[in-house]
Amino acid sequence: MSDRYQGFVQTQIGQLLVKNLGLPNPVPLERYHAGSPLVDGTVAIGGTGRLAESLPGILDLLGIASTRTTDAAEKYKGLVFDATGLKSTSELTALRDFFTPLLRSLETCPRVVVLGTPPESVEGSERVAQRALEGFTRSLGKEIGRGGTVQLVYVAEGAEAATASTLGFLLSPKSAYVSGQVIRIGATGENDAAEVEDIQRPLAGKVALVTGASRGIGEQIARVLHRDGATVIGVDVPQAASELQTVMKELDGDHLTLDITAKDAPQRIAHHVKEKHGGVDVVVHNAGITRDKKLANMDEDRWSSVLDVNVGAP
Ligand SMILES: NC(=O)c1ccc[n+]([C@@H]2O[C@H](COP(=O)([O-])OP(=O)(O)OC[C@H]3O[C@@H](n4cnc5c(N)ncnc54)[C@H](O)[C@@H]3O)[C@@H](O)[C@H]2O)c1
Repeated sequence: MSDRYQGFVQTQIGQLLVKNLGLPNPVPLERYHAGSPLVDGTVAIGGTGRLAESLPGILDLLGIASTRTTDAAEKYKGLVFDATGLKSTSELTALRDFFTPLLRSLETCPRVVVLGTPPESVEGSERVAQRALEGFTRSLGKEIGRGGTVQLVYVAEGAEAATASTLGFLLSPKSAYVSGQVIRIGATGENDAAEVEDIQRPLAGKVALVTGASRGIGEQIARVLHRDGATVIGVDVPQAASELQTVMKELDGDHLTLDITAKDAPQRIAHHVKEKHGGVDVVVHNAGITRDKKLANMDEDRWSSVLDVNVGAP
């Protein structure tokens, strides 16, 4: 949907045509701006699983207002349902009991998150019930409309304390374009989900390397990582050196110009991050090329150049 169309449907004549001709009426998606609260409204919590007790505290740490007492007359910005306690298909009715009355009480661009237990970690009817959550969230994702998103997060036993950053992202407009996804949080056995000191800058103190950072999606990724507090190292080909330097200067970051398919690229990158930053916490392999030929017309050179950059280099 182009922005020009969205702009048009916001006008008086646009609204008239949308109504009379049955044209699509897209809701402008809310976007996150640095400094805004993660959720502009209240999140209703339901369910009685492993996370039920800790959820209000987790949301509170994220600065998100929540309630367990729901009222269809109120408006909610988000719904979080802890389904980790559902052990059979008959218990799935708890989903209907919680969601159905509230679906007409949602603000625009609402966020829905269902928490489950990884099906492969349980047996029998519990496994069937947990697996069914995927179908439930995907169909609710199609139904919700009005710029809303719906996700399923499978939280492994022992990983309960590591859910905060995932919830913060999925409940906020940071995830405006993410819907119908199944996300897994595994237990590492270590307490590596250290509490974030500054919710506005969760990546403070981290070093992030982004390939193809001089323009396009890579540039925007670099900007978002910088917004969230990371020190960004942008990588791009020598031909893009000047654009790369301009972007990285603006972000107080660092740059490295090289072709990631070069034989010595891994050594140069490793040497650079170790010497200048002591290491790297996040690597985003964004650099990529397309040679848009039909497979029927794809010669060997085109095929291998795409594979080298997009798949081989990382
Ligand atoms: N634009 C889209 O709609 C879209 C959709 C799906 C996936 N993607 C993927 O997202 C990524 C970014 O897309 P974009 O539209 O911003 O692309 P873009 O062409 O605007 O930017 C890609 C960047 O990667 C750099 N790059 C290419 N080859 C490199 C190499 N060998 N070494 C170092 N840097 C290299 C380029 O110089 C450029 O700065 C690509 O991997 C693309 O395939 C894009």
